[in-house]
Amino acid sequence: MSVLVGYASEHGSTREIAERIAGRLRERGHTADVRSLAEAPGAGAYRAAVLGSAVHGGSWIPEASRYLHANAAPLGRMPVWLFSVGLARVVGGWFEKHAQEPAEVAELRDALGFREHRLLAGSLRPEHLPRFGRVVYRLMRGRYGDFRDWDEIDGWADAIAADLSGAGTSGAAPV
Ligand SMILES: Cc1cc2nc3c(=O)[nH]c(=O)nc-3n(C[C@H](O)[C@H](O)[C@H](O)COP(=O)(O)O)c2cc1C
Repeated sequence: MSVLVGYASEHGSTREIAERIAGRLRERGHTADVRSLAEAPGAGAYRAAVLGSAVHGGSWIPEASRYLHANAAPLGRMPVWLFSVGLARVVGGWFEKHAQEPAEVAELRDALGFREHRLLAGSLRPEHLPRFGRVVYRLMRGRYGDFRDWDEIDGWADAIAADLSGAGTSGAAPV
C-alpha cells in the first residue's frame, strides 16, 4: 500500500511541494501517490498520508477540508502529516504569530492525532490577488515572489520517510 501525498492548490505551488515530497519518499523506497484532494480516492486505500493545502484568507482550500472531514476515520488510524502553504512567514509580525495553524487543522487535531503540522512558505504573484487584496497586502508590507524553501521541504520529507521506515525505533517494521 502506498502513501497518499494529497494537495489542494489554486496556482500550483502547493502541488509542486506535494510532488517534491512524494519524490523524496520514493527515493527512500516508499510508494507515493500524488493526488489532488478534489479527486483523491478514500484514505482507507493508503497506509499513511501527507496532506497539504494552500492557505487562502486564513483557511485551507475547501476541497482539502472536505477530504479531511470525509476521511477522518481512516486517517485517524494511520500516520498523518499535514502542511499549510502560505505567506505568513514571509509577511511576519502579527500575521505570522496568528497564522500558525489554520482553523481546520486545529479542529481536526484530536480526531486525527496527526504527527505534525508544518507551515511552509509559498509563492505569490500580484495577479493572483484581486485589486482590493493587493491594496491590503501592500498595507501589510507583504512581498511577492517564490519563497518556497526546498531544503526545508526535502528535510521534512526525509524525516517523514525515516519515520515511515521505522528508523530510530528498535527495528520496528515499516508502517
Ligand atoms: C486570494 C489569496 C488569499 C491568500 N490568503 C493567504 C492567507 O490568508 N494566509 C497566507 O499565509 N497566505 C495567503 N495567500 C498566499 C498563498 O496561499 C500562497 O501564496 C500559496 O503558495 C499559494 O498556493 P498555490 O500556488 O498552491 O495556490 C493567499 C493567496 C491568495 C491568492
